[in-house]
Amino acid sequence: MPGWQEVISPARPAPSMTADPRVRGYLVQALGHETGAVQLYLAQAGLAALWALENESRRFRADALDELSHVERVMHRLLALGVAPPAVSGPPLRLGRDVDQMLLVDRELEVDVIQLYERARLYCARVRDRDSEELFADLLGEELEHLAHIDAWRAELLSGAVRSST
Ligand SMILES: [Fe+2]
Ligand SMILES: [Fe+2]
Repeated sequence: MPGWQEVISPARPAPSMTADPRVRGYLVQALGHETGAVQLYLAQAGLAALWALENESRRFRADALDELSHVERVMHRLLALGVAPPAVSGPPLRLGRDVDQMLLVDRELEVDVIQLYERARLYCARVRDRDSEELFADLLGEELEHLAHIDAWRAELLSGAVRSST
């Protein structure tokens, strides 16, 4: 059994591989975006629950879990490249005062991330980092679907509002 000195001693560093600095930069940016998205959607789920909007709260929570899987995949890619994932901190979350406002904030975030992943994917293809290219292409596809889902949700809200005002 190891003594406590061994238990608390620093782990051996990961095997060093040379990651292209721009690929690394894209992955670190992606980690910031995805972590921010988890926090945003969890906060919106909490707020919707406070407003007794159970269904909406569940939907935001499901989105947060999807984003968490993105955090995990980006982190694994950084680790595979021998890069320690940095801790992420960011500005206060913008939440919105009703569900439609929340969805507009979410939409902005998703559009930013889609643009980032398109640039990242093209760059990784250029430097022939196939694994990173594949990761960014997959994430890009999923975020495009997410954006479509946000737009469909907004359209649903709008048609509900039209119905209830007629
Ligand atoms: Fe994501
Ligand atoms: Fe997303």
